[in-house]
Amino acid sequence: MQATLKRIHSLLKRTATRALARARGPERHKGAQELKYWRACKSKEGTLSHSHYSHFYTTHFGLDGDFFKGKKILDIGCGPRGSLEWAYMAEERVGLDPLVDSYRELGIDEHKMRYVCSPAERIPFEDGHFDVVCSFNSLDHVNDLEQTIGEIKRIVAPGGLFLLLTDVNHDPTPCEPISFSWDIVKKFTPPMELVEEKHYEKSPGGMYKSIRVGAPYDHGNQSRRYGILSAMFRKR
Ligand SMILES: C[S@@+](CC[C@H](N)C(=O)[O-])C[C@H]1O[C@@H](n2cnc3c(N)ncnc32)[C@H](O)[C@@H]1O
Repeated sequence: MQATLKRIHSLLKRTATRALARARGPERHKGAQELKYWRACKSKEGTLSHSHYSHFYTTHFGLDGDFFKGKKILDIGCGPRGSLEWAYMAEERVGLDPLVDSYRELGIDEHKMRYVCSPAERIPFEDGHFDVVCSFNSLDHVNDLEQTIGEIKRIVAPGGLFLLLTDVNHDPTPCEPISFSWDIVKKFTPPMELVEEKHYEKSPGGMYKSIRVGAPYDHGNQSRRYGILSAMFRKR
C-alpha cells in the first residue's frame, strides 16, 4: 500500500514538473533570444548607447524636459540601454522589464534610473502611481496583451499620459509573440483618450530610424507589411 502511494506520488510529481517545463519553454526561449540580441549589441558598441532616447520621449510627442519635472515615469519593456537616463528632472524614473536580472551583466547598474524585474502583466506598483507610462517597442513582446493593457490603464494616474511606440501588422516571432493592427488604440479607450496618433512606414534600420525618416504610412497600399504606430493617450 505504502509503495503504491509512493509510486503515485512520484508519477504525479514527474507529470507536474514536465507540464511546468512545457509551459516555461517558449518563455525561456524568448528571454534567451532577447539576451542574445543585447549581448551582440554590447559587443559591437562596447557600452550600450542611450543618447537617441530623449528625442523620442520628449520632442517626438511635443513634450520638453520641463514637462517631466517632478513627475513619476515608468518605462515598460525598457531594455538594458538606460532608456530614462535623460530624465534627471523627474521625481521617479523606473524601467520595468522581466529580463532586468539578466541585463545586469550588460551594465545597467551604472545607469541613473531604477530597474524593476517584472513583466508588464504584473506591475508591482499601486493604482495611479505614475504620471507618465511609456511602452516603446515592447507591447508586441509581452505574453498576454489583455493583461498588459489592463495593467497600463491601472497604473497611470488620472490626468497622466501613456506614450506608445510599436510595430503593427507583423507575423508573430519568438521575441514578438503578439501581433495586432492599428486598431490596438481602441483597447486603451476608455479610460484613456487618444490625444495624438501617427502612422509610419517601416524603413531599414528599425523603429527609431523609421520614425526619424518619417514616411507616413500609405493606407492606400493594400500590401501586407509592417507599420509603426505612435500614439499618446491621456487618462481621464
Ligand atoms: C525590443 S526591446 C525594446 C527595449 C527598449 N524599450 C527600446 O526601445 O530600446 C523589447 C523589450 O521588451 C521586454 N519584454 C519582453 N516580454 C515582456 C513582458 N512580458 N513585459 C514587459 N517587457 C517585456 C524584453 O525583455 C525587451 O527588453
